[in-house]
Amino acid sequence: MDEFKGKVFLITGGSSGIGRASSLMLSKEGAKVIATGRDDSHMMEVLEIDPTIDFIKSDLRDENSYKVIVNRVFEKTDVLNGFVHCAGVTYPEPCETFRLREVKEMLTVNVLSGFEILKGVLSLMKKGGSVVFISSIDAFYKSTPPSSGYALAKGSLISLTNALAPELGEREIRVNAVIPGLIRTRMTEDFFAEEFSAKNEELLKRIPLKREGKPEEVASLIKFLLSEESSYITGTSIFCDGGYHTG
Ligand SMILES: NC(=O)c1ccc[n+]([C@@H]2O[C@H](COP(=O)([O-])OP(=O)(O)OC[C@H]3O[C@@H](n4cnc5c(N)ncnc54)[C@H](OP(=O)(O)O)[C@@H]3O)[C@@H](O)[C@H]2O)c1
Repeated sequence: MDEFKGKVFLITGGSSGIGRASSLMLSKEGAKVIATGRDDSHMMEVLEIDPTIDFIKSDLRDENSYKVIVNRVFEKTDVLNGFVHCAGVTYPEPCETFRLREVKEMLTVNVLSGFEILKGVLSLMKKGGSVVFISSIDAFYKSTPPSSGYALAKGSLISLTNALAPELGEREIRVNAVIPGLIRTRMTEDFFAEEFSAKNEELLKRIPLKREGKPEEVASLIKFLLSEESSYITGTSIFCDGGYHTG
């Protein structure tokens, strides 16, 4: 697809998992990818594969980092074609023992950082654009182990998508969310470390396709939502979960 050549995308969480796969895929298609990351070794791993990815190092728990990211994006480009908010963190915890600090961190990194950065870069989407938020199956269904704080954050991204799509439609900016199921990344490595436990096998059996997803399979959907192929799609939240949501 030549359509990505010369286009510019900002991807948070481009240093690992789904964000990394998306950054590499878009860059391979000829796009200029500006990505955020926090861990030096994770960013280095990506740069060893594709040195053209332009990383901005930041810790999204720190509110001051949002302005820094926005300013850096303005230094690097005068037009932005899309924004993907992939950075995310999860803590499993029964609700009664959740510490407010952890709930706040999940809301800050998963939701507020994306919202604030988007606000800052919107004026660069002069010719329209595409925004993609990464929600989670845990916003809709029981998660194992439980994490109501994570569901709170990921559910907010669905609401944000529903609210922003009509608001930004006039400016030809589309806003959609992706809802991944179980994807093998650093975030889920503990789950796979216990790969042969009966509990985890039970969960995999509940997925109609009988397997976990690959980061590239989510990245393909993100690429589609950033592309002209999805030019009439906005305000939707799309499952990418091997059919888990069918129950
Ligand atoms: N994997 C799944 O099964 C699954 C399912 C549903 C939804 N999701 C969502 O998909 C998105 C990507 O997750 P993933 O599975 O690809 O996990 P991952 O491999 O752990 O990637 C998470 C990304 O978020 C970044 N990040 C985390 N905390 C940060 C912070 N405080 N400041 C800056 N960056 C931070 C990480 O940066 P560094 O690596 O540089 O620290 C990394 O790039 C997340 O929003 C996650 O909630 C994942």
